[in-house]
Amino acid sequence: MELDEAIARRTSVRYFDERPLSEETILRLVESAIRAPTASGLENWLFVVFRSEEARKKLYDLIAEGMVEYYRAVNLPEDKMEKLKSRMYEEGMYRAPVYIAVFIDRRVRFLNGRKFDEVEFIWSVESAAMAIQNLMLKATELGLGTVYIGVTNFQGIEEKVRELAGLDENYYLVGVIPVGYPRDEVRPRKRRKGSTDVVKFV
Ligand SMILES: Cc1cc2nc3c(=O)[nH]c(=O)nc-3n(C[C@H](O)[C@H](O)[C@H](O)COP(=O)(O)O)c2cc1C
Repeated sequence: MELDEAIARRTSVRYFDERPLSEETILRLVESAIRAPTASGLENWLFVVFRSEEARKKLYDLIAEGMVEYYRAVNLPEDKMEKLKSRMYEEGMYRAPVYIAVFIDRRVRFLNGRKFDEVEFIWSVESAAMAIQNLMLKATELGLGTVYIGVTNFQGIEEKVRELAGLDENYYLVGVIPVGYPRDEVRPRKRRKGSTDVVKFV
């Protein structure tokens, strides 16, 4: 698949079929992920693959908790909340054969001095986000769907995901990516803005 096609076809997929993913496929995705740029060459990312039934169920409940919190934070009415719950618990939204939680290890540092603490943390998150995009594009090429779950970063939830992954507070969660074969036909979402709306030449 040409790069342009992968970029154009990638879109958030929230419903998956039950077909499992082989370990080989997961490793191919991670191999693409770790080709991303990484600030100071740190490579301080960690890809935790949730694949057992038990681990996935626990993570799923945390995604649900985060989504409810998100809906509340944007003041969605109660009936929308019920719809969300039925989409999740009855229709299986976000239920995937595999979830890849991407963490960074805060201990890995390149720059000396407190002055650089924040910028190096941000660089690490940015590097992991670039890795996630590579992973998503590779998944598209392999006919797989993905979606970036950010709500698991909410306070109180992020720690629980970290604990499920068996990691201590040296690790920070960048995102959770459900991965699987799309249940339905994939239709990329349009953008509201075109390139000329978001470009400024100076
Ligand atoms: C950092 C980040 C966090 C996101 N968090 C969520 C999330 O928690 N739940 C969700 O359903 N989608 C989430 N998304 C997906 C966006 O909603 C989606 O990318 C956007 O609506 C554009 O649609 P598209 O990806 O299909 O082009 C997130 C995307 C990003 C980049």
